[in-house]
Amino acid sequence: MKNYQIPPGSFGLPLLGETLSFVSDLKFVEKRYKQYGSIFKSHIFGRSTVFMVGPEAAEFVLSSHMDHFSWREGWPNNFKVLLGESLFLMDGEEHRRKRRLIMPAMHGAALANYIGTMERITENYLKKWKQKQEFAWLAEFKKLTFDIASELLLGTQTDAESARLSKLFTTLTNGLFSINPLALPFTQFGKAIAARNQILEHVTKVIRERQKNPTKDALSLLIQARDEEGNSLSEKELIAQAVLLLFAGHETTTSMLTWLCVELARHPEVMQRAREEQMQFANGDALTLEKLGQMHYLDQVLMEVERLHPSVGGGFRGVIKEFEFKGFHVPTGWQLVYAIPETHRVPEIYSQPENFDPDRFSPERQENKQRPFSLIGFGGGPRICVGIAFAKMEMKIIAAHLLRGYQWKILPNQSLKKVRIPTSRPKDGLRVKFQPL
Ligand code: HEM
Repeated sequence: MKNYQIPPGSFGLPLLGETLSFVSDLKFVEKRYKQYGSIFKSHIFGRSTVFMVGPEAAEFVLSSHMDHFSWREGWPNNFKVLLGESLFLMDGEEHRRKRRLIMPAMHGAALANYIGTMERITENYLKKWKQKQEFAWLAEFKKLTFDIASELLLGTQTDAESARLSKLFTTLTNGLFSINPLALPFTQFGKAIAARNQILEHVTKVIRERQKNPTKDALSLLIQARDEEGNSLSEKELIAQAVLLLFAGHETTTSMLTWLCVELARHPEVMQRAREEQMQFANGDALTLEKLGQMHYLDQVLMEVERLHPSVGGGFRGVIKEFEFKGFHVPTGWQLVYAIPETHRVPEIYSQPENFDPDRFSPERQENKQRPFSLIGFGGGPRICVGIAFAKMEMKIIAAHLLRGYQWKILPNQSLKKVRIPTSRPKDGLRVKFQPL
């Protein structure tokens, strides 16, 4: 007989459900996971929701049963309004076709062309930080990663233009999880829509210029992309995808870079080993994809930052076909969230999961290899983050330059408490004292 028992958990208050605790309580998922196990119900953003935790659940959602779930029906409504008709909100065949057109600009040979731009912009920031000596790193990384993304994705040339766009993106991002759905000029959501309109205006102008004068940056590759049948992205699609890539491509990287610098400052022995590795490569030659691929200890450190401080708390889906997991039934129409930070702390996979220990990813230990979908900071399966290679390369370039030439200390009297929404970050933005070696 079919089992129709829905997962354990609570729907919370009428109407509001558990939305406020979900948004404000860092341990929302952890507490319920301990109480109920790897699948439990709740009610957030106005919908019955099921949370799923752990590698087995992640594999179910991201790979083996992914046709039961829709991205478009999953992400809160604000995402649809603010991110438009982009890859993020597509499903099925349409998604596969568009993703195939975007992939070449984000992988393989194309990446080699971005190294120079990434290094040049990083070096400019290092000079600026050396002069400043004390600053909040989160805000600086945000500017740096935005400058990189906007130059490569939009061909933005001037600092002033990049700073204006960056501000607009911050306003847009703040609207994604705003609880008040009213689009009035003074609400967070209303301001986000106004920011989106200004971004669209800018991106449209740039795309028209680029169509006339193509270069080797990511935007030009997107404009030129053709599939086997000769289909390309329309101007409207190009605009939507460029806005999405800019949005998805800098807050997340900023988050991981900030936590990387927190952990390196907290663990001088890790900093030392990572620096020694860099010194083998620091012979004055420019960085190449090949050299970056040989920085194995830095890879381990970045994986440990991804595990302990994933930028994103989880992925939203809409259940479009009912399913059963661990004997519980989830009906069509529910919202689903697969949880990333809690999956990264499953003690059956990770020994002493709260400890920062890059050696857990050493060739001898490889804790994450015990089970697929144990490390999912970039999602997983066929819809794994499209920017994973771009982001990893960018973070390695920035980390390599930092380790080779600089040291830093975390300044006292600040809170490093984690804030998770919209992306993970230390509360006071990591204020540091920064010096050359
Ligand atoms: C440290 C940096 C990054 C992290 C941690 C990250 C994380 C993620 C995660 C977790 C997902 C899957 C969400 C889900 O399953 O619901 C995702 C998807 C995505 N990411 Fe990233 N990301 C990063 C950088 C980037 C960059 C640099 C870009 C583009 C330039 C990018 C573009 C995207 C896109 C377009 C998707 C949707 C893929 C699809 O629908 O097929 N991300 N990312």
